[in-house]
Amino acid sequence: MSASSGPTPAAEIRQRASELHAHAEPVERGEAPLLAERAVVFDAPEIHRLIQYWFETTGDVLPRTEGEIYETIRDFIVVRSPNGKTLLAAGALHVEWRDLAEIKSLVVDPGSQGKGLGRIVVEACLVDAVELQLKTVFALTTTPAFFERLGFRISGVSAFPRKVWNECFKCPKYDACDEIAVTIDLRDRLSR
Ligand SMILES: CC(C)(COP(=O)(O)OP(=O)(O)OC[C@H]1O[C@@H](n2cnc3c(N)ncnc32)[C@H](O)[C@@H]1OP(=O)(O)O)[C@@H](O)C(=O)NCCC(=O)NCCS
Repeated sequence: MSASSGPTPAAEIRQRASELHAHAEPVERGEAPLLAERAVVFDAPEIHRLIQYWFETTGDVLPRTEGEIYETIRDFIVVRSPNGKTLLAAGALHVEWRDLAEIKSLVVDPGSQGKGLGRIVVEACLVDAVELQLKTVFALTTTPAFFERLGFRISGVSAFPRKVWNECFKCPKYDACDEIAVTIDLRDRLSR
């Protein structure tokens, strides 16, 4: 902990987070490359806004309260605009068990779709998963084709009984679930 006086400016925190966890993936925008970074608490309201937008417009993501986002803020990866003022994309890697994690709440700003931001977030989540020595990552999605482009395969939700028992039973979509399970095996990327 630093003994310096006053709160650390957000930009400084972001810079530090970026240095700690920069999965540099340049995206052609004619300026600085966009980076995946760990979310900081100041990102939570914008993450919530994007999740709420997609929940209300297409229903492609499940709603999350702002409180839930703060509680799981360490799970989140974000991509910000080059000036750092706008959140362009977010997604979370949530550990479910010793060998399993889920990508949740993956959202891209509607004006920034199709520019590789979803890929940047998912790939950063997979880097995280490998660092954590996780063997398998899955997602429940209405857009399996996007995940297939990134190396995931379509699976069945019954392959993840813990998920079903822990969360699906509480989900408003439980009786009419339109989500498809996709999974990626990371064993060949693990060091042990
Ligand atoms: C789905 C979503 C995350 C994709 O993010 P994105 O930034 O638009 O996608 P990317 O530009 O990174 O695309 C990566 C690849 O997937 C493909 N792709 C993207 N969206 C796709 C879709 N809906 N269907 C099929 N392929 C798709 C792209 O063509 C690209 O393929 P390429 O590698 O051959 O060029 C984003 O559109 C989004 O936020 N959608 C609304 C919320 C949602 O559906 N979230 C996912 C819930 S799990």
